[in-house]
Amino acid sequence: MNMENYEKKSLLRFTTSGSVDDGKSTLIGRLLYETNCIFEDQYAAVEKTSQKRGDERVDLALLLDGLAAEREQGITIDVAYRYFTTNKRKFIIADTPGHEQYTRNMVTGASTAQLAIILIDARLGVLTQSKRHGFLVSLLQIPHLVVAVNKMDLVEYSEEVFNNIVKEYTEFSQKLDIHDITFIPVSALDGDNVTSRSEKMPWYQGHTLLHLLENVQVAADRNIVDFRFPVQYVIRPHLDFRGFAGTIASGSIKKGETIAVLPSGKESKIKSIVTYDNEDLDEAFVGQAVTLTLEDEIDISRGDMIVRPNNLPEMNNSFDAMICWMDEDAMNKRTQYILKHTTQKVKASIQSIYYKIDVNTLHRESADSFILNEIGRVSFRTSRPLYFDPYKVNHATGSFILIDPVTNRTVAAGMIQGETRDVSDVTSSHHAEEKRSTNVKWEEGLLSRDQWEKRNGHKGAVLWFSGFSGSGKSTVAKSLAAKLFDESCQVMVLDGDNVRHGLCGDLGFSDQDRSENIRRVGEVAKLFYEQGNIVLCTFISPFREDRDFVRSILPQGAFNEVFVKCDLSVCKRRDPKGLYKKAESGEIKEFTGITSPYEEPVQPELVLETDINSVEENVMKAIDYLNSKGVL
Ligand code: ADX
Repeated sequence: MNMENYEKKSLLRFTTSGSVDDGKSTLIGRLLYETNCIFEDQYAAVEKTSQKRGDERVDLALLLDGLAAEREQGITIDVAYRYFTTNKRKFIIADTPGHEQYTRNMVTGASTAQLAIILIDARLGVLTQSKRHGFLVSLLQIPHLVVAVNKMDLVEYSEEVFNNIVKEYTEFSQKLDIHDITFIPVSALDGDNVTSRSEKMPWYQGHTLLHLLENVQVAADRNIVDFRFPVQYVIRPHLDFRGFAGTIASGSIKKGETIAVLPSGKESKIKSIVTYDNEDLDEAFVGQAVTLTLEDEIDISRGDMIVRPNNLPEMNNSFDAMICWMDEDAMNKRTQYILKHTTQKVKASIQSIYYKIDVNTLHRESADSFILNEIGRVSFRTSRPLYFDPYKVNHATGSFILIDPVTNRTVAAGMIQGETRDVSDVTSSHHAEEKRSTNVKWEEGLLSRDQWEKRNGHKGAVLWFSGFSGSGKSTVAKSLAAKLFDESCQVMVLDGDNVRHGLCGDLGFSDQDRSENIRRVGEVAKLFYEQGNIVLCTFISPFREDRDFVRSILPQGAFNEVFVKCDLSVCKRRDPKGLYKKAESGEIKEFTGITSPYEEPVQPELVLETDINSVEENVMKAIDYLNSKGVL
């Protein structure tokens, strides 16, 4: 092969995952074989073994099993990288063998992948593992997903079987952060739709797997904007040379540019950029291993980070992360784990576990620990601050692994979400110190809540109406507000649709945006509460964690969760804004109850059943409740 040509081809890194026996090895074997990327003698050996076993066909999976055996000697390799090339592209497959350890393997193999192939056995359909893998694709932000429905030969190439799997998996994946998903019916054993189109499935109009792999658009998948250089070594071969060696985690840097060193914040300029071969560069980019020298003498040690002074990462010793637990032993909340992040190793303790995810339903469940393959959200506190970015914007500085200090095993992989939002901390800090601009100080009012309440003749309270769209939150709240107005109460209504005009008009309906919506209006509700108002908040607020957050920032007893209970079928029938119709036709994405989850309140202070009781009855119930609480 012409080496020069080889170098110029674009590269696609992809990962494969599946459940036991779904034909992953056969599929990879087939790709390697049909792209002429295995040696004659390898093929001959496999052919011989197949014959010896009396197989009808040459078992291409054996190509990989041979390598697997080799791997077993090496013990520690979780992911095997395989290379193949076609006229169009070079490919690296991060093959993730092993059955029990699939989460670990996938996380390790997939962290740099641009595409993931999930295999589904056509006979078995969508399994929990298929969903878990999809969840990981979303969590790891792998840009492209191919669902290969394999073993079509064993279901008589049935279009119906294929379509059912497509339908089920599409419904599931809509709740995830996956932007590009392609389904291909294949038979890895016979090669149908792998590298050439199958004649047995004329109903399938799409491309073959290889065609897709060769042509999928891969954008710059690494952060090329934010310069982050974690220092790995300080090099001092002689007195007048002092360099800082490492690999550029993201962005790029030029000679002469001003930089800042974290944690000290001291600034200097880049004097030189030197490669391993002593070559002098004017500029270096993400992924390059270089040694930087600076104009000034600054004390720098391993684990420090060189960045641009006007583009800093977050610096904190507490943060929230999504983690995948990968160890046979469950997480022990009392263990001080070792957290490895860029070139730093620090001690880390678990502050709180917010939830774990049920990968089948994508619901959040309360958790006290994690066992093998479980995924969830945790807040950490580390012995020293880390310099990080959210995983979403920077995979290199947004990810870490956890190591067990005793066994030395990697027990979890983590994706940093951002600053911590530890509920207990927020409660104790009266003015929500956690989310605060820099250089601001809380301005105390001249009048206390007590004084406002005395003048108003009633207590302040927050009534938080939560429920499906169309459940009647706003309708009940409006009538209640009118009733309270007649009683000369001070009332403030914060309504979902209104707040999304303006204050939260920049937010959509992703899980994150909904959280941010609730955080903002929760803070607003608190300000009104502090001035003695009865604040009526009507938001779908589908996530328990978000509602609990609002509860946590208010004084004990001030937050009253009102579950506006109405059967989804009734909401759909009412459909006052015609949104359910649009959601069901696919015109609106991420619609609560259809393509986005709703977590019912666990212990609401008040339940209003709008599919059973009239508006007036529910208003009376609310008034009774306010009386019984001593608000009125
Ligand atoms: S929340 O989930 O973030 O709490 P919020 O209560 O503010 O939702 O807004 C919900 C209102 O926005 C609904 O009453 C509906 O009119 C409108 N809406 C538009 N798109 C969606 C969607 N995808 N999911 C839910 N509501 C939507």
